[in-house]
Amino acid sequence: MTVADLTIDPSCRAALHARSLADPDGFWLEQAQRLDWITAPTKAGDWSFAESDFHVRWFDDGVLNVSANCIDRHLATRGDQVALIWEADDPAEEPRRYTYAALHEEVCRFANVLKSRGVAKGDRVTIYMPMIPEAAFALLACARIGAVHSVVFGGFSADALAGRMEDCGSSIVITADEGRRGGKAVPLKACVDEAARIFTGIETVVVVRATGTAVAMQEGRDVWYDAVAATVSAQCDPEPMAAEDPLFILYTSGSTGKPKGVVHTTAGYLLWAALTHATVFDYRAPEVYWCAADVGWVTGHSYIVYGPLANGATTLMYEGVPNWPTASRIWEIVDRHQVATLYTAPTALRALMKEGDGYVTATSRASLRVLGSVGEPINPEAWRWYHDVVGEGRCPVMDTWWQTETGGHMITPTPGLPLKPGSATLPFFGIAPQLLDADGKTLEGAAEGNLVIAASWPGQMRGVWGDEQRHFETYFRTFPGVYTTGDGARRDADGYYWITGRVDDVINVSGHRMGTAEVESALVLHDAVAEAAVVGMPHDVKGQGIYAYVTVNADVEADAALAKTLRDWVRHEIGPIATPDAIQFAPGLPKTRSGKIMRRILRKIAEGDVSSLGDTSTLADPDVVTDLVRNRVC
Ligand code: WT7
Repeated sequence: MTVADLTIDPSCRAALHARSLADPDGFWLEQAQRLDWITAPTKAGDWSFAESDFHVRWFDDGVLNVSANCIDRHLATRGDQVALIWEADDPAEEPRRYTYAALHEEVCRFANVLKSRGVAKGDRVTIYMPMIPEAAFALLACARIGAVHSVVFGGFSADALAGRMEDCGSSIVITADEGRRGGKAVPLKACVDEAARIFTGIETVVVVRATGTAVAMQEGRDVWYDAVAATVSAQCDPEPMAAEDPLFILYTSGSTGKPKGVVHTTAGYLLWAALTHATVFDYRAPEVYWCAADVGWVTGHSYIVYGPLANGATTLMYEGVPNWPTASRIWEIVDRHQVATLYTAPTALRALMKEGDGYVTATSRASLRVLGSVGEPINPEAWRWYHDVVGEGRCPVMDTWWQTETGGHMITPTPGLPLKPGSATLPFFGIAPQLLDADGKTLEGAAEGNLVIAASWPGQMRGVWGDEQRHFETYFRTFPGVYTTGDGARRDADGYYWITGRVDDVINVSGHRMGTAEVESALVLHDAVAEAAVVGMPHDVKGQGIYAYVTVNADVEADAALAKTLRDWVRHEIGPIATPDAIQFAPGLPKTRSGKIMRRILRKIAEGDVSSLGDTSTLADPDVVTDLVRNRVC
C-alpha cells in the first residue's frame, strides 16, 4: 500500500497514517523520492524537542535545489504544459499563460538580474509585490540562486516593510510600480520609498513595471526590472543547496508586539508542500488548480507556488479580489479556465454567500472536482453553502488546518474521507496531535484542550530569524516536549478534530493573523493615546473583528473624529488588515491590583456577553467595568 492508493481506496488513510508514525524513517525516505535530489538523503528526521538538546533536521545529508524541482525536472515531460495561468484584476484583460519552458526562462532571467545586483547565496531578498506572475518568478529565482526570500504582503505599510527588512538585514527589495485590486491602484513603489526613509539599509530596489504608471526612481538605488532583464542571459544553473539551508523567512504575528521571522528550510518544506498538495487535493496533472490566496502569506508560498509546481501542476494566480467587478467573479474564473480545484478562505465564502446564490448559479462550475478551505475555522453554514451551492454536492470540501509555522497542511481531510461540516477531520501523515489541559496533562478520547504536536514533521519551521531562543520559548516552553500550536481544539468520539480558535493573544481577521499587541503598540504611538487594549470580537464576514479600548491623554477630546483618526493611524502604521472595527474610549481599563489588564473581561464585553463577566473581585477598581459595559460600541 502506498500514498498513491489513497484516491482509489480512502480507507488506506488510517493504515498509512499509522505506518507514518510507526516507521517514520521508512515512510519519509520513501516519500523523499518525490523530489529530485542532487545527492539523495540517507537520513529522514533527526530531532529533539527537549530543551537540553533542541534541534530539528530532516534529510540532513541530502542536496537539491527547489527551483530545479519546481521547473527543470518537468521540462522533458511537460515543457509545453502550462505551469502558470495569470488572471488579471480587470476581466477584460487577456489572461497570461506560461508553459514550464517559459517559466524556466523567466526564472533564470530573474535569477541573473538578482545576481547582477550582487545577490549571493544566503542573502535575504525582500519581495513586496502585487499578485502578478513576476512575484512567483521572484520567489523561484531566489530559490534558484540560494538567496533567502522574505515576502512582505503588499497590504502592509511602509513601516511594517521597513521593520521586516531591518530585522533580517535585507538590503534589496523587489517591488512593482503599482498593484491593482478591485479596480483600485496600490502604490507599492511609493511605499518602498517611504520604507527606505525609515530603514536606511535599503540599497537596491528592483521595480517591475506592472501598470506602467510613472513612479519616482532614485538614481543608484532603483532599477527597472525589464531594463536589467534585457541585458542578462536566460540560462542560470540552479545552486546545489543542503537540505537544511534556509529557503525563506515569512513574518507572522504572535502574542508580542513584534512579528517574528519564521524560517523554513529547503528539503523538508518542499516535500511537505508537494506531498500535501498532491494528496489533499488529489491533484491530477494537467488539471487547473487554483489557490485564491495572496503570495504574501504562507498559503501562497506553499499552495500557489511550491507545492503545485513541484507536482508539475497548472497553477492559477489571480490578481484581484473575489467580489469585483461582481460577486460572480470567482465562479467566472472557474469557468473561464476550467478550474478543477478551488482553494479559498471562509471569509471570502461568507462575503459571497451574503450576495445570494444567483451569482453562483449563473455560472457552470462543472469543471470543479475538489474544494478547499483555509485560514480560519469554517462555520457549518458556510461549509454547507460551499459544498451544496458552489460544488452542487459533487465536490468534497477539504478544510485544511495548518499555520505559517507548519509549512503545510496538518489536520485535513483527503478526498474520500467521510466529512463533517466544520471539522478539519484527521491528522495528515506523520502528524501526532495531542490535546492537553492547562496543566499539560494529556487528554484521551473525546476531549477539548490545547492542541499540540508530539513529533516533528518535515515541514516544521526551523527557527525564528535571528532569535533562536524565541523559537524555543514561543513553541516549546509552555508544554515541554511538544510543539504548541496556540490553537484550542476539540476531538470527538470518532477522533475528528474541531479547531476552536486561538488560545493566545492572537486574533484571526479574515483568515489573517494579527497580534493584539501589535495593534496596541501602534495605537499608543499616537500622541492622543495613553493606553490601549485590543481584543477580538465576532464578525459575520471576517470571522473576527478588531475591538480596541483606548484611554486618551488628559485634555484630549475623545470623539468620533478621534476614533476615525486612530483608525487611519493604525492603517498607516501596520496596514488596512489591522484597522480596528470598533474603538471604545475608556477612562480606565480593568486591571488587577498588580496592574495586569484583565483581557478576559475585555473579550466578554467586546463579544457582547456582559452577563457572565466572571469574578471581578480582584480588580483594582471594579467600577471601571460598569463604565465599559455601559459604553460598549457595536
Ligand atoms: C492560524 C494560522 C493556514 C495558513 C493560513 C493562515 C487558523 C488556519 C484553519 C482551519 C481553523 C484555522 C488557526 C491557526 N487556521 N486554518 N482550517 N480551521 N483554524 O496561517 O496566518 O499562520 O494562521 O489560522 O488559528 O493557528 P497563519
